[in-house]
Amino acid sequence: MQFFIDTADIAEIKKANAMGVLDGVTTNPSLVAKTGRAFLDVLKEICEIVDGPISAEVVSTDYEGIVAEGRELAKIHPNIVVKVPLIVEGLKAVKTFSSEGIKTNVTLCFSATQALLAAKAGATYISPFVGRLDDISFDGMELIQQIREIYDNYGFATEILVASVRNPIHVLQAARLGADVATCPLSVIEQLAKHPLTDIGLAKFLADWEKVPKTK
Ligand code: E4P
Repeated sequence: MQFFIDTADIAEIKKANAMGVLDGVTTNPSLVAKTGRAFLDVLKEICEIVDGPISAEVVSTDYEGIVAEGRELAKIHPNIVVKVPLIVEGLKAVKTFSSEGIKTNVTLCFSATQALLAAKAGATYISPFVGRLDDISFDGMELIQQIREIYDNYGFATEILVASVRNPIHVLQAARLGADVATCPLSVIEQLAKHPLTDIGLAKFLADWEKVPKTK
């Protein structure tokens, strides 16, 4: 399973990258807005830090606009993945990008039928938003299970990128269901490494080590 970090914050990206478990980055307009910086500056800096897929989202909503914007974003770096909203115009653009060898991440997916269409259009990644579904009392993980089943039934190569991850349980369940990628905030990536028994055990080992006679 691959781990992407879901942020446009350079300090967070550097921190996750230093952990040695980071495979890529996803951004969205809301995350970029939080930085207060120009999108292209942030994007170029991310590409210098992480050697893996970097999702950059278009803001056009018509086919021509999405294609024009996506082509420009793709020129920035070979690792750029053009993030496209799951709307009809977006699917049309994904088909075009696919024929041009431009990688895509189809975002704002909330149903398995949407995911089926994205795969048929040739999406590289599909991003089902599990946290936002949980927020409205739908089981986000049920959607991951449905997409996995459908993609396996037909041998679609589109990778399932679990998005809107809010906690380590989301990551655990996504991994058990065979999702390809989880994109997580830094806090969740850090939480994955933590266990109170690890801290207690380590403290005890270090305390006991103090009792071991030291060679002179
Ligand atoms: C995915 O690519 C999105 O950027 C992200 O996961 C959305 O998460 P949120 O629902 O916490 O905003």
